[in-house]
Amino acid sequence: MPLSNHIQSADWKAEKHVPVIECADVVKANEWFEVKVSVGKEIPHPNTTEHHIKWIKLFFMPEGEKFIYDVATFEFNVHGESVAGANQGSVWTHSAAVTWMKVTKPGTLYALAYCNIHGLWESSKQIKVE
Ligand SMILES: [Fe+2]
Repeated sequence: MPLSNHIQSADWKAEKHVPVIECADVVKANEWFEVKVSVGKEIPHPNTTEHHIKWIKLFFMPEGEKFIYDVATFEFNVHGESVAGANQGSVWTHSAAVTWMKVTKPGTLYALAYCNIHGLWESSKQIKVE
């Protein structure tokens, strides 16, 4: 069975695991634009030691090209774990990150998120270039 069979998708407004991609719908060719990816925008994900988002990856598939680009990987590495000398954890990372990118062609952004309990989740957003 291909890996893609294990990647879930849904409406992010109704399912807390679906990564949300926020950026302009239309960007200028070869000019930096901001992209925010997050899990839990509408319905918060717990993000506890036992249950959290480990990472979100961002890809871009330019129209008319054959292969996808790996744009960024965001790891969320602390989830309230106890460390030596502390009875309970005191640091957490939220499952959200921002980067900047530029493109010369329109295409589709893809986000892939991993929950340590509920597996892989994807979403996409098309962008136009002017
Ligand atoms: Fe989860």
